[in-house]
Amino acid sequence: AAVPMPLDDARPASPALRHRKVGVIGAGAVGTAICYSTLIRGVAREVALYDIDGPKVRAEVLDLAHGTAFTSTTQMTGGDDPAVLADAEVVVITAGAKQKPGQTRLDLAEANIAILRTLLPTVQSVAPDALIVLVSNPVDVLTLAAQRITGLPAGRVIGSGTLLDTSRLRWQLASRVHVHPSSVHAVILGEHGDTEFPVWSSASIGPTPLLAWPDADAPAFTREELDGIAHEVTHAAYEVIQGKGATNYAIGVATTRLLEAILRDQHAILPVSTVMDGVMGLADVALSLPSVVGRAGVERVLPVELDEDERARLATSAETLRTVAAQFGF
Ligand code: 2OP
Repeated sequence: AAVPMPLDDARPASPALRHRKVGVIGAGAVGTAICYSTLIRGVAREVALYDIDGPKVRAEVLDLAHGTAFTSTTQMTGGDDPAVLADAEVVVITAGAKQKPGQTRLDLAEANIAILRTLLPTVQSVAPDALIVLVSNPVDVLTLAAQRITGLPAGRVIGSGTLLDTSRLRWQLASRVHVHPSSVHAVILGEHGDTEFPVWSSASIGPTPLLAWPDADAPAFTREELDGIAHEVTHAAYEVIQGKGATNYAIGVATTRLLEAILRDQHAILPVSTVMDGVMGLADVALSLPSVVGRAGVERVLPVELDEDERARLATSAETLRTVAAQFGF
């Protein structure tokens, strides 16, 4: 009888799994962090980095390639010719303006939509079958814009969305109760930005509902404490940007997690952003809901049970994003 095979490299490579090339656009702090974590985690056979700044991208590719004796079999390539992205199965876009201290993500919409308009036709000509992963901000507005510009099916244009914010939330909760973040089941949904919100109503630590942890009679968290944690998560990027000018390491590993779900066809449930198609009454807007991610991209967006407050916050996120996207004709 057949033994179920784990979904990892132990599985004999089907032709579809053999190559696994990821293209990354933008050799800044975020693009290079994504390359670095993807090399270390051995998620792809090849990582190709593209940037218009030739000396910078060549230096970054060399520096990353010099470490591959100590990583997996992944090959590190790249340069200032978009042809380096040829035949990538996934192209990750990190190019664009980034927030200066005091700016919100939404302030970047105009500059970064303009960049997408020139970049996407090039990507589609060199890597016509690639899934597109958006990381630049405002990631939800750019996800909608990229889907509309390319005409690709909604599930093939994915924004990193609240995957990073969710990781920040899990870390915050985990460090307070001294368990590993992977044992904290809680998500941030909606906009990757100021209107994002935690779903406390279904959060748990291990099997125990968060609101009853560790004991229903003596819960560890009050509603005020949870609101404080949510506030810290929403403002985390501002704090990091104030101190070091950008965030990069956490978005690097978060994006690698998304790439792993795609390239290993994991059908993993991740909070990422795609253009909504009627789920929970949402359409014509991209935002994050729990989504089943595999080789085809986002295969399904899952409806979530929300309490009244959470439903109102989801509606606010959608409205905020629709208003910004509409200013640019999307
Ligand atoms: C972040 O949340 C700035 O969107 C970026 O780290």
